[in-house]
Amino acid sequence: MIKPILTEQKSNCNMLVFGMKGFGKTSLVRGIIHELDRVIMLDTLQYEYTEENDGKIVTTYEDLVRELTAAEKDKGHFRLVARIPKDTRWFGLLEGMEKTTFVVEEMDTYADLYNLPDAIRDFYAYGRHRQNNLIAVTRNAQEIHPKIRKGTDVIISLYQDEPNVLDYLRKINRPVTDQLSKLKKGEWRILKGKRYLEEFLSAQLGKKVVIDIQTTDGLEELRQQENNDDN
Ligand SMILES: Nc1ncnc2c1ncn2[C@@H]1O[C@H](COP(=O)(O)OP(=O)(O)OP(=O)(O)O)[C@@H](O)[C@H]1O
Ligand SMILES: [Mg+2]
Repeated sequence: MIKPILTEQKSNCNMLVFGMKGFGKTSLVRGIIHELDRVIMLDTLQYEYTEENDGKIVTTYEDLVRELTAAEKDKGHFRLVARIPKDTRWFGLLEGMEKTTFVVEEMDTYADLYNLPDAIRDFYAYGRHRQNNLIAVTRNAQEIHPKIRKGTDVIISLYQDEPNVLDYLRKINRPVTDQLSKLKKGEWRILKGKRYLEEFLSAQLGKKVVIDIQTTDGLEELRQQENNDDN
């Protein structure tokens, strides 16, 4: 069912997606990467990504490397869901791959305020020339290391009502943070980097994207418009 449109990525784009349990983080990410080729989804704990919707499932690091090696020898296309619990060897791929999008669910289990692995730090500090993207997802916004936050182009949040998280997010964008406790499931707001996200989606959809409706359904509408344009 997956028909990736091959998009030549011109620049890299790092994103952070925050939100409380069950408010639509994974659905949003799925919407953002829908057409993207060369994606690795690290689904460490919850097994949220599926073969039908997202990509081929691999369950060990060795299988992941085998699939990537085979893909690179062939046409270089892949969408892989890595269900490899708490295996940190994938950090090496941040250096080893290029023009690849990494989705990392539960980013705080790999990197938090007290523990920032060198490979992740280097990725955010120096990784741009490999044109990789990293979309990090977490429920615990305030536990993400400042170096990750600073190296991130796009910060999106879904519903939040915890006072300490809201205090933290206000430092990034106060007016937008004040809207977060009123959001419904599937609604999201961009705290930083709207233009980057629009460029990222424009490259995938092959047309100029302007984000106005900030819901997962809104992303779907953008795609429908494109289909109508084609017909
Ligand atoms: N726009 C929407 N409208 C209604 N329901 C939605 C919307 N977006 C997502 N959902 C539903 O909400 C539920 C949770 O969504 P999702 O798994 O994306 O949340 P999550 O934030 O990733 O959760 P978790 O913290 O457990 O990983 C799913 O059943 C999903 O189908
Ligand atoms: Mg999720």
